[in-house]
Amino acid sequence: MIRTKFSDLLGIEHPIALGGMGGGFTRPGMVAAVSEAGGFGALSCNGLSPDEIHDAAAKMRSHTEKPYALNFLLFLTDDECFTAALKEKPAAIALAWPRPEQDLKSFIDRSHEAGCKVTLMAGTVPAPERGVEAGADVIIAQGTEGGGHVGWMASMVLTPMIVDAVSPVPVLSAGGIADGRGLAAALALGADGALLGTRFIASDESPIHENFKQAIVDSDGHDTVLTEITDLAAGVVWPGAMSRVKRNRLVERWIGREWDLRRDQAQAFARIQAARKEGDVEETPLSYGQDAGLIHDILPAGEIVRRIAEEAETILTKKISSLVA
Ligand SMILES: Cc1cc2nc3c(=O)[nH]c(=O)nc-3n(C[C@H](O)[C@H](O)[C@H](O)COP(=O)(O)O)c2cc1C
Repeated sequence: MIRTKFSDLLGIEHPIALGGMGGGFTRPGMVAAVSEAGGFGALSCNGLSPDEIHDAAAKMRSHTEKPYALNFLLFLTDDECFTAALKEKPAAIALAWPRPEQDLKSFIDRSHEAGCKVTLMAGTVPAPERGVEAGADVIIAQGTEGGGHVGWMASMVLTPMIVDAVSPVPVLSAGGIADGRGLAAALALGADGALLGTRFIASDESPIHENFKQAIVDSDGHDTVLTEITDLAAGVVWPGAMSRVKRNRLVERWIGREWDLRRDQAQAFARIQAARKEGDVEETPLSYGQDAGLIHDILPAGEIVRRIAEEAETILTKKISSLVA
């Protein structure tokens, strides 16, 4: 068993976390499956009402007694929803993307008062320093390889930089990790575990259309792009990030014509919503990371956790140590 500061802090078996993915990419069954397998599940609360947060927490509790997190994109967070989440007393509140002027400390203090640990995602080095000063318990070093909204720095560089900057606060490496090799590498870089999004999107419990899961399996990892097109189409201004998505027909249509998309936003968004329902992988924004190239099957979420833990353990105990003369 791999024990780290992160697994000890949260009282979990494996230092493997599910990213709390917004836009309907996480559901209670998926989160509970990750936690029940000994990982650390996280549910995105963005887009949920206070009642829906309560219902989701009750569903997770009906599946598992193990720890999980509730995730918030801070720049979109509504106070009523945050208060509702704290009432559920999750093991952790997972925060990402605060606006520069937001009072991060007050979110962290309120979480601590409710008995929750706090994780904060960061894609640069100054960002986690702000989080640690405000009292964050865990920093997620999120590299540009990852799916969804990311920064510019690769995990290989960013993870040890953040580890050095925030030590002794535990760090999880995120972005581009889909198997035990990635977890072992993250630990070698000084992280205390890994956080994964894309790998879990291609899971049985993932709530998205089967065609989208299959698109990840079919991807060779070279078909993503960092773009603002998908946010422009949704009418959302993201503070300091682009989104890594599949470079599909939708994205190709608007590249270099973002100004045009601003004008036609309502029409483009309506078309996307219809395409999403139909599972049209060419006309829907499909957020996934470069690690799609490492994903060759759709598996139960718990199985993913167990396989990654087992593979990393074998690498660390047998492969790596045998290299040292
Ligand atoms: C579809 C999608 C939605 C995401 N939404 C969120 C979110 O709401 N909050 C968050 O903290 N991270 C979010 N992320 C980022 C993940 O938490 C994680 O950092 C990323 O998926 C890691 O890279 P990987 O996809 O290569 O595993 C999202 C990622 C994806 C793919």
